[in-house]
Amino acid sequence: MSVTKPLPHDAAQLHVTGTARYIDDIPTPNGTLHLAFGLAQIAFGSYTLDLDPVRAAAGVVDVLTADDLPFANDVSPSVHDEPLLATGSIHYLGQPLFLVVADSHLNARKAARLAKIKYAEETPILTIDDALAANSRFEDGPVIWKKGDVDQALENAPHQVRGSITMGGQEHFYLEGQAALALPQEGGDMLVHSSTQHPTEIQHKVAEALGIPMHSVRVEVRRMGGGFGGKESQGNALAVACAVAARATGNPCKMRYDRDDDMMITGKRHDFRIDYIAGYDATGKLTGVDFTQLTRCGWAQDLSLPVADRAMLHADNAYHLPAVRITSHRLKTNTQSATAYRGFGGPQGVLGVERVMDHIARDLGLDPALVRQRNYYNSAHRRVDLDPPAPQTTPYHMPVTDFILHEMTERLLEASDYTNRRTAITDWNASQTILKKGIAISPVKFGISFTLSHLNQAGALVHVYQDGSVHMNHGGTEMGQGLFQKVAQVAASRFGIDVSAVKITATDTGKVPNTSATAASSGSDLNGMAVANACDIIRDRIAECLASLHQCRMEEVTFADNTVTVGGETMSFAQAAMTAYQNRVSLSATGFYKTPGLAWDRAKGTGTPFFYFAQGAAVTEVVIDTLTGENRILRTDILHDAGASLNPALDIGQVEGGYVQGAGWLTTEELIWDDKGRLRTHAPSTYKIPACSDGPDVFNVNLWDEPNPAQTIYRSKAVGEPPFMLGISAFLALADAVAHCGPQYADLQAPATAEEILRAIKRARG
Ligand code: MTE
Ligand code: MOS
Repeated sequence: MSVTKPLPHDAAQLHVTGTARYIDDIPTPNGTLHLAFGLAQIAFGSYTLDLDPVRAAAGVVDVLTADDLPFANDVSPSVHDEPLLATGSIHYLGQPLFLVVADSHLNARKAARLAKIKYAEETPILTIDDALAANSRFEDGPVIWKKGDVDQALENAPHQVRGSITMGGQEHFYLEGQAALALPQEGGDMLVHSSTQHPTEIQHKVAEALGIPMHSVRVEVRRMGGGFGGKESQGNALAVACAVAARATGNPCKMRYDRDDDMMITGKRHDFRIDYIAGYDATGKLTGVDFTQLTRCGWAQDLSLPVADRAMLHADNAYHLPAVRITSHRLKTNTQSATAYRGFGGPQGVLGVERVMDHIARDLGLDPALVRQRNYYNSAHRRVDLDPPAPQTTPYHMPVTDFILHEMTERLLEASDYTNRRTAITDWNASQTILKKGIAISPVKFGISFTLSHLNQAGALVHVYQDGSVHMNHGGTEMGQGLFQKVAQVAASRFGIDVSAVKITATDTGKVPNTSATAASSGSDLNGMAVANACDIIRDRIAECLASLHQCRMEEVTFADNTVTVGGETMSFAQAAMTAYQNRVSLSATGFYKTPGLAWDRAKGTGTPFFYFAQGAAVTEVVIDTLTGENRILRTDILHDAGASLNPALDIGQVEGGYVQGAGWLTTEELIWDDKGRLRTHAPSTYKIPACSDGPDVFNVNLWDEPNPAQTIYRSKAVGEPPFMLGISAFLALADAVAHCGPQYADLQAPATAEEILRAIKRARG
């Protein structure tokens, strides 16, 4: 069977030879025009525009402002609070004010800088503290979820720690920047190519902007050069701009952000501060925790509410919190509108409780690994005796029935030789004055499903041609994660054919409608099932046809090894398809899937938001230079749970990439806004993502290959986001190295840049 095979990514060869086609590579028709936004240079205030110099610039065909937009001026994915072009007031530095349409990309960008803009500047709200002071927030007040009596638990706790951890945002740094191309069709229809994780959303926003029904807009996406959540909603502006300009001029219009513009305009990961008070006993076991999560959302709502929800939903990570209160403030600031980013708030919530585990271990002088294991959800309900206890529940009251981190952690600690290395590191540090090493383990338990339950659905369209070749389409998008390859392997397995017989085709709103974003790691879970459903319908029709021709039962028709066997006779799959065709059997079907059993109350924070949990753990060893704060990851061992993996090679790739991206978030990647609200780190020169050489020197990644107890496609598990949180072990290892520098608890903050490590060393030394 094709599933479970470690086959290469379907476009691997195209990627490495530079021939994979992205939006910017699509040959454009003659007369294609190019767009650029004119951007606000203040963070908050009002303005008046003199666009005459822009109109007079070389190559400029048209200049549009909000007044020129015929229908909806909105690119928000949620509450219509995000105009494509500003309407008199400015909410962040980098906000698009006007749109230039020119004969070339360069002319459009040059002209966009020529506007004469008079600003009436007001004091912007930039930081979490600014926003708290001004009570600037989305929703009326904080969202609060509770379980048990946390105040009582804290009061009675034998030990207590309090602290605070800040964590920065993160630029997506997809290698392919945001891009769109709109091609006007007859009768006012519009065809849009967009680099988006969410084609239906693009279709929807373009239809609104053009005042036409969704059936008049078709959106196509073959692939993205990375999305990481940054193309769930942030592509709307470019696609709508192209469609509006194409409608206004009658010409095809194309837009791509230059890297600096991309970083100035688009939203990033939400930065957070998490304050905590934790009560625990002498063994390090938590009795109660009070978390306050402060989320900096930027100027528009975008996806901030569900992101903040997911941070709350992951405040427990892998740990049973007997009594807990989580207070979430969704703060509105005059900065880019923060958006989805791998983990969708989960990583921030997880880092909060991981810091608590570390703090407790330091306080009691215990091995942090042991404190973690002691606080894990128990698996006692799986005991095979007469009276097993009920499963423990999460802070949102969902029973945790599939917890496997006890076994995984034991296996990982052993495989990575954790205990011996920890002792060796302590000895080594004692003999060193300048370099210090650190080691840490961190687990992840990540909830799989969109928390907006209705999004957990997917559609597929499959055709079998009379030569036995298969055309496969579904609502998922490919961003490098290997979704198309995995789902093609599912299709091949259903028909018992080689994956080479399955044509992977571009995501297309004209083929599969009303799709959800490819997000929440659910791409293969949802689309794999939908495609399997479509394939099974066609396979059953072929079987029924052959069974009646051979006077046997349908169950006696089998599909394997590119052949179909019926009543003792075998034929190729192609012959079977031809026979079915000649017998006038439909060889085309749609498929559909919806995740069962989801129901929860977001306001109260109770219920079952997730179908199951993906789990994993990582042990990281680092070394720091106490004179400069410079550091390296020496070794990382990971054991990650991808269920019965659909494709172990792709899944290991996701684990490696997720880990490195997570470590980057918490180490070198630092976003700095100045006191005017200008992002000063808007290019690779000043914003440092991990390079190849920053990965661990030794990197052992293994999959925990046990079938998912939940009924997913071939019992696999989602793998896209969960391993991101394993990067937290790198941060914790740095904190461990810092802890070897002095007697004080150093409360390392994130990102742990060289500067922050130096500051923390000073704090440790007192
Ligand atoms: N891997 C690559 N190579 N490129 C990406 O953009 N995005 C991540 C993850 N892995 C991403 C990636 C994010 S944010 C998500 S939600 C999932 O992939 C989406 O794909 P899936 O649902 O098919 O796992
Ligand atoms: Mo991923 S942040 O859900 O696109």
